[in-house]
Amino acid sequence: MNKSMRIGLLTGGGDCPGLNAVIRAVVKTAINDYGMTVIGFMDGYEGLILNRYTTLDKNSVSGILSRGGTILGTSNQANPFNFPILQNDTYVYLDRSSEVVANYERLGLDCLIAVGGDGTHAASAGLEKLGIQVVGIPKTIDNDLVGTDQTFGYDSALVTATEAIDKLHTTAQSHHRAMVVEVMGRYAGWLALGAGLAGGGDIILIPEIPYEIEVVCDQIRERNRLGKNFSIIVIGEGAKAQGGDIVIKRIVETSPDAIRLGGISYQLAAQIEGLTRLETRVTVLGHLLRGGSPTPYDRILATRFGCEAVHLAAQRKFGRIVVLKGQCVESILLEEVAGKTRKVPFDSPLIRSALSLGVSMGVTSERIEEMMTQPQTVA
Ligand code: F6P
Repeated sequence: MNKSMRIGLLTGGGDCPGLNAVIRAVVKTAINDYGMTVIGFMDGYEGLILNRYTTLDKNSVSGILSRGGTILGTSNQANPFNFPILQNDTYVYLDRSSEVVANYERLGLDCLIAVGGDGTHAASAGLEKLGIQVVGIPKTIDNDLVGTDQTFGYDSALVTATEAIDKLHTTAQSHHRAMVVEVMGRYAGWLALGAGLAGGGDIILIPEIPYEIEVVCDQIRERNRLGKNFSIIVIGEGAKAQGGDIVIKRIVETSPDAIRLGGISYQLAAQIEGLTRLETRVTVLGHLLRGGSPTPYDRILATRFGCEAVHLAAQRKFGRIVVLKGQCVESILLEEVAGKTRKVPFDSPLIRSALSLGVSMGVTSERIEEMMTQPQTVA
């Protein structure tokens, strides 16, 4: 009965390792298990709006499992409900959702599988209300999507960040310096916390816990007193000092989430050097974290997500997103995810482990114990 099903596939938002693995899994499962036809849209929702697509067969996904990026291309600016068009040097924004619906219908699609982060899933949730049958798949190096224990892309980014921290350790030690390493992650500290733990960071600063500069410097001084005259500080791009502000690198006017973070590490390094007199250097890992070959973990997770998304489509279970719960791949309603951010909980076992190891989270231990008992705002 499903033999004639036609499914669309797109990858939206910032790229991450594992996108090609998920494309391959969707195409192979759709063809092998159900004899479906798969249409791949180029550059996220832009392809569905502008009618740019290609039919994906098994040949087109051959040899892509280990490749970073996405063979379909992606965009973090193509919102069908608020699509930017440059007119006389100024952007105007148009609701092009009716064109999406028309293209979907003209191609005779039964379902759209949208791989993306919160922006992509928010658009999918809107399109579902217009009659498009969507199945979502979560991806992002930020690991900040609600409803899933992990997104693919995160593990690969962690490996890149950890390798970088390992390398910075040796040079920090040789030169007796403080090294500030800034990682992406937007408003959630998963990458900073994971990489900080895996890389043996001495201080980990995450957006969820605004830091006190004196506490940061005390940790560095204490290490020096113990003869460890170097320190590694891992900071998430969305972190800020208590009473301070996040650092905005640029505003991308045409993006649904216009703020691009970055640069807090320079402020922090200047303060550390000024207050401790320890020579301090900055490394911003930036988009390096989004590149390269996916780790085995991400290849497997992306593959499992891709297979499950096709099974959901075949069972006509639309309006859902696949998620990881413990070791199991399940699905939840798309509307439970759209527009929300999963932050690191104050009582996270990762934070507890960091504290047990003597890692500073940038606030006193009394303050963090107090925070652990307080309700946390989730945006
Ligand atoms: O969401 C993924 C991410 O890499 C964030 O960690 C980062 O803040 C943002 O995308 C960067 O976006 P852009 O590629 O537009 O600079």
